[in-house]
Amino acid sequence: MSTVIVLGAQWGDAGKGKVVDLFSERFDIVARYQGGHNAGHTVFIGEKKFVLKLIPSGILRPGVEAVIGNGVVIDLAALLQEMETLEAMGIAVSKNLRISNRAHVIFPFHRLIEKMSEARENRVPIGTTSRGIGPCYEDKTGRRGIRMADLFDPESFRTMYDVLAADKKTLADTFQLNEEIDYAAIRQQTEEYAARIQSLVCDTAVLLHDAMSHGKRVMFEGAQGTMLDVDHGTYPFVTSSSAAAGGACTGTGVPPTKINGIIGVSKAYITRVGSGPFPTESKDAAGDLLRREGNEFGAVTGRPRRCGWFDVPLLRYTAMVNGFDSLVITKLDVLDHLDEIPVCVGYKLCGADVHEMPATWRALEMIQPVYEKLPGWRTSTRGIARYEQLPERAQSYLKFLEGKTGVEVGGISTGPERNETIIRPGSKLDGLI
Ligand code: IMP
Repeated sequence: MSTVIVLGAQWGDAGKGKVVDLFSERFDIVARYQGGHNAGHTVFIGEKKFVLKLIPSGILRPGVEAVIGNGVVIDLAALLQEMETLEAMGIAVSKNLRISNRAHVIFPFHRLIEKMSEARENRVPIGTTSRGIGPCYEDKTGRRGIRMADLFDPESFRTMYDVLAADKKTLADTFQLNEEIDYAAIRQQTEEYAARIQSLVCDTAVLLHDAMSHGKRVMFEGAQGTMLDVDHGTYPFVTSSSAAAGGACTGTGVPPTKINGIIGVSKAYITRVGSGPFPTESKDAAGDLLRREGNEFGAVTGRPRRCGWFDVPLLRYTAMVNGFDSLVITKLDVLDHLDEIPVCVGYKLCGADVHEMPATWRALEMIQPVYEKLPGWRTSTRGIARYEQLPERAQSYLKFLEGKTGVEVGGISTGPERNETIIRPGSKLDGLI
């Protein structure tokens, strides 16, 4: 039995979609544990480009079951649209997708509440994806949320929905939200959508336990990244869910004792979308080059991503919080043209060394990164699939990251295609997947 968590080691967009898709060949089930359609996983298979937002990337592999766990929040319209797009591309979604009956439902008014909240005077705008994710999780922890199971109990659903709608009406009136919201139409539409996916909804914790007890292999797919985790990330510039490894247990109902390994995914540099501190951000031509070479534009919102250099203190922090067994370094080829590559090896604050990740965004904004510059390899690594074939300087770069972060680099991605990947034989990663 092998049960592994694959998650982002930075602020998301690390290339997990490709990694999970690649590894899923060796698993029976791929399960998402948090987030919603704010995530964007892009997978290239030959000529075809798949953008997955809510459905685990494992769905692209025939025979692999995809599970949306209880920790995920679901916009039914977005889910149905994604299902239809994938079905039209020949993917057997209805056959292989299962959805937790405990996952919470995002309603259209969650998006409007979010817009209002982001725009409020004196509030620090987070730069969210505007998908209603935060307000839905607010309702969940406020214990007034509506879960998938509730949708199939029409009488209770209507009562719960009407109470929730009355709350939102009060909020909208209080904050003078001018947009018209047709609550009755939303309720009716939700009932229609729910009927279309009813056969896919079940107790996915039971499904996962049964599968594991029969020796099936399960991979948990994190969305976003550790630095966007609501507890361990750069609060308040975070998403509203538990993106770190611990979230895999609470978000699926699988206990920590059943997890065999944890794999962190990180780019060979760093990106971030939305607002918030980013110590190694490069706002000059080098940042532009990373954006251009790495095509760094959000898969969901299309926003240009902020780009910067690999940050060892940040990786050491996310390795601590998650307990990474191995790292997969993605987009190594994006660095191919650089003469030298800065790597942040330490933080200073007001001239003093910083040994812990600051808890406040204000302190993080003031961090001065300490850089070491490594020589670039200035030759293409695109598509290389064996470690020994990497230029010596690229190997030295990876060894440097390994030494400084204290985590093995078990995998390297050298292009978007499945075969443009190195899995180092004998690595912990190789043993886990
Ligand atoms: P929310 O998740 O829409 O509430 O947005 C909160 C923060 O998380 C914003 O800075 C978003 O840009 C960021 N975020 C949410 N999902 C992703 C993702 O999948 N990749 C990268 N950033 C994300």
